[in-house]
Amino acid sequence: MRKTNLFKSFCYGAGAACLLLLNACSTKTGDASSACLIPRPAEMQVQGKFLKADSAMILNPDGNRVRYATDGSLTELGAEGYKLVVDAGGIDLRAMTDAGLFYGRQTLLQLLGDKGIPYVEIEDYPRFGYRGLHLDVSRHIFSKEEILKIIDVMSSYKLNRLHLHLTDAGGWRLQMDKYPRLTSHGAFRTESDWRLWWDGKDRKYLPEGTEGAYGGYYTKDDMRQVVAYAAERFVTVIPEVEFPGHSEEVFMAYPELCCTGKPYSGGDFCIGNPKSYEFMEGVLSEIMEVFPSEYIHIGGDEAGKQNWKTCPKCQALMRKHGMKDVNELQSYFIHKVEEFVNSKGRRIIGWDEILEGGLAPRATVISWRGESAGFQSARMGHDVVMTPGNYMYLDFYQANPNTQPYAIGGYTPVKKVYSYNPLPADSLTPEQAGHILGVQGNTWTEYIKDEQHLEYMMFPRALAVAEIGWTPQEKRDWNDFKTRLNRHVETLHERGVNAFPLSYEIDFEMAVDTVTRQIEVTFDAEKYPVEIRYTTDGTMPDASSPLYSSPVIVKDSAHIVAGIFVDGKLTGNVSEKKVDYHRGINRPISYNSELYAGYMAGGMNALLDGYRGGLTYLDGRWQGYLDNLDCVVDLGAQTEIHKVSSRWMQLIGPGVFQPEYVELYVSDDGRHFTLCGRHDTDIKRDDPQLRFQEYVFAGNWEGRYVRIKAKNPMGFIFTDEIVIW
Ligand code: ACM
Ligand code: ZN
Repeated sequence: MRKTNLFKSFCYGAGAACLLLLNACSTKTGDASSACLIPRPAEMQVQGKFLKADSAMILNPDGNRVRYATDGSLTELGAEGYKLVVDAGGIDLRAMTDAGLFYGRQTLLQLLGDKGIPYVEIEDYPRFGYRGLHLDVSRHIFSKEEILKIIDVMSSYKLNRLHLHLTDAGGWRLQMDKYPRLTSHGAFRTESDWRLWWDGKDRKYLPEGTEGAYGGYYTKDDMRQVVAYAAERFVTVIPEVEFPGHSEEVFMAYPELCCTGKPYSGGDFCIGNPKSYEFMEGVLSEIMEVFPSEYIHIGGDEAGKQNWKTCPKCQALMRKHGMKDVNELQSYFIHKVEEFVNSKGRRIIGWDEILEGGLAPRATVISWRGESAGFQSARMGHDVVMTPGNYMYLDFYQANPNTQPYAIGGYTPVKKVYSYNPLPADSLTPEQAGHILGVQGNTWTEYIKDEQHLEYMMFPRALAVAEIGWTPQEKRDWNDFKTRLNRHVETLHERGVNAFPLSYEIDFEMAVDTVTRQIEVTFDAEKYPVEIRYTTDGTMPDASSPLYSSPVIVKDSAHIVAGIFVDGKLTGNVSEKKVDYHRGINRPISYNSELYAGYMAGGMNALLDGYRGGLTYLDGRWQGYLDNLDCVVDLGAQTEIHKVSSRWMQLIGPGVFQPEYVELYVSDDGRHFTLCGRHDTDIKRDDPQLRFQEYVFAGNWEGRYVRIKAKNPMGFIFTDEIVIW
């Protein structure tokens, strides 16, 4: 993991010193046409000339050559838009609001380079009003200074919401006057590493002041300072307090608030206990004193609901209101939270589980378990923020897991994040679409222990979130973004942000053409510009290997090995892809075993479509089964068979295991099968790394039907293709 120096000079005032650290990239390349702004403006024209300028000129306009003006008539630019003209006459920046002027200044600061500011004409405004990042400070706590630093960087990229996850089992993180035990007994724990603590047998909270305890909390003054610092940068801080689940730490402090009355017995508030409502109102009152945001995030996710099924108080409440199931208890509580928050002139936002059992009437939903809850809520007339896990979770791996610090799983390289569109055309009517407020990247910190690692996970992926939130969809293009992103990663490093330096991996995109019977393989890399050299025979590429310039066509079998060369030397690890236009492609397949609807990959044909999977079982290429796999491929006629292989994944975090063994059978008639071979797995079931094993059967067989059986030892098994030669 890359280490850079901690950013030392925090700016509590107007932020001038921080902003000075911003560098433009256009002029570094000397090419004004590549003015590399992130997010890319809605409309921009760049001329070839430069205005001599420095940051002092931008930050302290002299009024002569630099004119900033709010103009109430610029309604077409909206509440955050701006118009910027830089030419021989100087800088002319206009907006309807101060926020617009602020964003115009961020643009100027990004444009500023060694030669000055390129002559530009920009008319810019955001696609969405809500452009957020979320930070979990419960699982691991981060200094106030780190939060200020993140806000500062966010604002440079026109992100405008910081959602702080202040409470969870990991520890309660905000001083509370009415409930002081939340921090004196619920903010410290036995183990700093959340994973060791959570998985450990002796998971305990400790009273404040206990020697060696891990934890901490922010004072109200700390948070007031954060809120004010953010407001100067047009960032709204949205506090989250978890209800009714994820609250183990509360029950250490106030055990009477959970169903059993005892700590360490679950994470859900007792919905049948009036004290839970008193607590909710007391805590949220203090939260609303500190945080002026319209939205108060009230959690809502992943309540276990188990204790509610047997708790006399919860059961009595269910009977009283004729509730059918415990989901209605959750909904009942969230309705009460909403009534209270609305009575104070604020609104609630909650994770998409708040839909279950009936959505509170004015609630805004933050859609994390995919997008459908978000679209469903918008159709019901509710406002929505999109943060689907597979795109917007910045705690997922951003490169090959075996090269990265341990993460929660998943795989969201910056290209994947960038590919997300919160509002695809035709997904909603125009009126419903108006309910999609925007987008948010979430950084959960179960596996993120310190600030260096936090920045590494957040950045530069947060810049992709910023562009998704700001730039018109038709102006977004990965190849264009990537060139700008490479520059901005340098800028982030110069600014003291420990951004992930982008990967040296090669991303292979395949296009299988069943008419020409070939597979076209396109290479891509996060690094730009790059020299990619490759082989197709499985050998290591060197400086004399072919230089990648256009897609590689595979008509039979290739084992591509590709790497990035800098000054004639291979840099970073090579990436590999096996590609086969094999005999099984597009043949009928039947299953004697249960399929799992959630992991069908390309559908019934997924194992014979020519598409091998990548590094994540979530990429739509890997088919997963909770059962054993037993499938039969019909080759259509008696065929000589020489080689059959299938590759399987293991990633034990999310419960993906290698099969215990894989067997190959062949048959002439589809009824009587002959066992041709069996391979046991070589991979240990407790191996925590991402592992792949290819089970290869080579021989001389003849038959029409090929059958693969794979024994599931536990959890899921995943394979991507059955390759038949
Ligand atoms: C969540 O990730 N539990 C909202
Ligand atoms: Zn209860």
